[in-house]
Parts: sequence; C-alpha cells; structure tokens
Amino acid sequence: MKTLEIDTGTKVSKILIGEKLANVGKYLPHSNVVILTDTNVYNLYNTQFPDFPVVQIGLGESNKTLATIDKIFEEFVNLEVDRSTYILAIGGGIVCDVAGFAASIYMRGLSFGFVSTTLLSQVDASVGGKNGVNFQGFKNMVGVFNQPDFVICDIDMLKTLPKEEYLAGFAEIVKAGAIKNESLFNYLQQNIIGALEIETEVVEELLLHSVQIKADVVEADEREKGERRKLNFGHTFGHALEKLTGMLHGEAVSIGMVMASQVSANLGMLSKQQAQQIKTLLEDLHLPVSTNVPLGNIYRMMRQDKKKEGENIHLILLEDIGNAVVKTVTYKDLEELINDLR
Ligand SMILES: NC(=O)c1ccc[n+]([C@@H]2O[C@H](COP(=O)([O-])OP(=O)(O)OC[C@H]3O[C@@H](n4cnc5c(N)ncnc54)[C@H](O)[C@@H]3O)[C@@H](O)[C@H]2O)c1
Ligand SMILES: [Zn+2]
Repeated sequence: MKTLEIDTGTKVSKILIGEKLANVGKYLPHSNVVILTDTNVYNLYNTQFPDFPVVQIGLGESNKTLATIDKIFEEFVNLEVDRSTYILAIGGGIVCDVAGFAASIYMRGLSFGFVSTTLLSQVDASVGGKNGVNFQGFKNMVGVFNQPDFVICDIDMLKTLPKEEYLAGFAEIVKAGAIKNESLFNYLQQNIIGALEIETEVVEELLLHSVQIKADVVEADEREKGERRKLNFGHTFGHALEKLTGMLHGEAVSIGMVMASQVSANLGMLSKQQAQQIKTLLEDLHLPVSTNVPLGNIYRMMRQDKKKEGENIHLILLEDIGNAVVKTVTYKDLEELINDLR
C-alpha cells in the first residue's frame, strides 16, 4: 500500500492506494457511521461492508441530482444523523460526488471519507475535493469544495467493474502523464498488459503517480484559478462530445485528448510524432480516438457551455508529453482551430 497526503491549507486528506475495503474500520474515528453507496456496489460488496446503516442511491448520472440529496436527507433524519455522525461513501465517482456534497451541507457539514471503487474515481473523482450534483441537465452545477478525510483505493474491487468502465479510467491516467509526467506516460506504455490485466503492482504505480499529479495541482490551486485548469486537458472537447453522444466520460476525454494534441501540433507546439504517440497509447488501451460527430456540432456545444467565462475559452495544449500550457483563445479563434482539424 502507498499513502499520499493532500494538504490544501485547510485540511489534510489521506489517499490510501492499495488499501482494502475490509480495513476501512481503521480509518473511522468512532462507530456513529452511516454508509452511502449505490445499488450495484451494495449488491456486490455489502458482505464486506462494516456493520453500519446503509443508504443506497440509484445508478447513473440521472440520480446525481438535488432530488437524490433530498432523499438522502430524509433517510438521515430517519436514522437520526447528527453533527457527530461520520459519512462513509463506498462507490464510484457518482456516489463520492453525491455523498461528499450531502455530508458537506447536512447540518452545515459532517466529516466524511471514501472507499473509491472505480478506476475513474480512484484516479480522479475522489481526489481533489470537488463534490456536487447536476442541475437541470448541467453537469456538476451545484456543489462545494471540501476534501474527504481519507480515500481508500481498493484495487481488487476494480476486478468486478464492467470492462468498458475500467478502460475509460485510463483516459485520466494518460491525461496525467501527458500534462505533467512523461515517465508516467512511458511507464503506462511499457506496462500496458499489466495495466489491462489489473496487476496490483502496475495499477498501484499508475495510481500513485496520477494521484500525485492531481494532488500537487490541487494543493497549488484548489479552486481552479490557473494551474488546476491543466487537468482539463482533453476535457474541453471531451465534455462537448460526452453531451452530444452520451459516451462514457473517459471515452470522450480520449477523443478530446487526440483533438487537443492535434491542435497543439497544428500550432507547432507539439511534434506530430508525439501527437501520434498519444493516439497510439489510447488505441492500445482500447479507447476511441475519433468520432463521427461533425466538428461544427462539437464547436457549437462548446460555445453553449454554461461554465464558460465570457467570450474566451481556456484551451489546454501540449508543448511536450509531460508539459501542458493553458492558452486562452476567443471563440472565433477556436472555430478556426477546430476547422483546421479537418
Ligand atoms: N469530483 C471530481 O473531481 C470528479 C472528477 C471526475 C469525475 N467526476 C464524476 O464522477 C462521475 C463518474 O464516476 P464513475 O465513472 O466512477 O461512475 P459511477 O459512479 O457511475 O460508476 C460506474 C458504474 O460502475 C458501478 N460500479 C462502481 N464500482 C464498482 C465495482 N467495484 N464493481 C462493479 N461495478 C462497480 C457503478 O454502480 C456504476 O454503475 C461523474 O458524475 C463525474 O462527474 C468527478
Ligand atoms: Zn475527467
């Protein structure tokens, strides 16, 4: 097991990579605990849960809403949850986002920790303190920044994940390497079989370095004023594609990274060979690298983004594998850059 600490100045959050669900009791401060999970994770793992009341939420993004928060609070009232109750989330990105938000606002905030059960949530979602729900179809529109006390990343639990969910998580690992750490990128390239076969040692190493990158960035810029934006590599295009097609987040980010690499190469920032190296790695991970969605539709969806700031957009581009830069462009520039991808 490998441990990392994220210190945002207000709180130290421990990330326990390779720890087991069965050991979660060691990290709970007392026995007044309520568990939040989803129905899949409950059905697969409830026999390994510590013996506390369980609140289950439904599956999928359509349950990541204020209505679900409402239902959770009803259960909290029934269970007589009070300010001393500890909230333990066991699940993927949706459970952790929802539980972190519910815990952060119920009675002005309860302490909470996560057992993160998908590759995406281990590598990305449960690290960094963003919690929240969707609102009227807009993703993560309502939420708070608040770090969990701990995040357990149990690698064995990844073995029950649907294959496509597991593969999609690799997009965030490729992203982390591409923006900040060439040796992580190379390690994944060289250990692709171990990665695909969920070899503990390989996955632990990949998680450790990916999470370290996110931790460094979050420590420097918890509220996404500058450096944290680099974590959006591939996401500017990816979010638009995800909305247009409903494909998995990691799949959309994979295509988005290929697009962003190509834009970087077209601007003379990244070599064509490096752009190709990124594409090949994603293909080797069985992730999609192209789409039939017309570029014009992607552009229009990007323009509609609720979270955009005025007439400019922050594009995350690469100068090298391992070195990202934030380039702020107007929507007019963006349209031209997208046209050049044809
Ligand atoms: N807070 C952040 O910084 C951040 C970052 C990235 C993504 N996210 C959010 O994370 C969410 C996506 O997370 P996700 O991909 O983990 O989705 P998810 O939570 O929906 O999990 C995917 C599916 O796998 C199932 N599952 C979970 N663990 C399992 C296991 N061990 N074995 C078998 N099945 C299992 C779930 O029930 C679900 O059906 C999105 O809502 C996204 O917005 C948040
Ligand atoms: Zn992402």
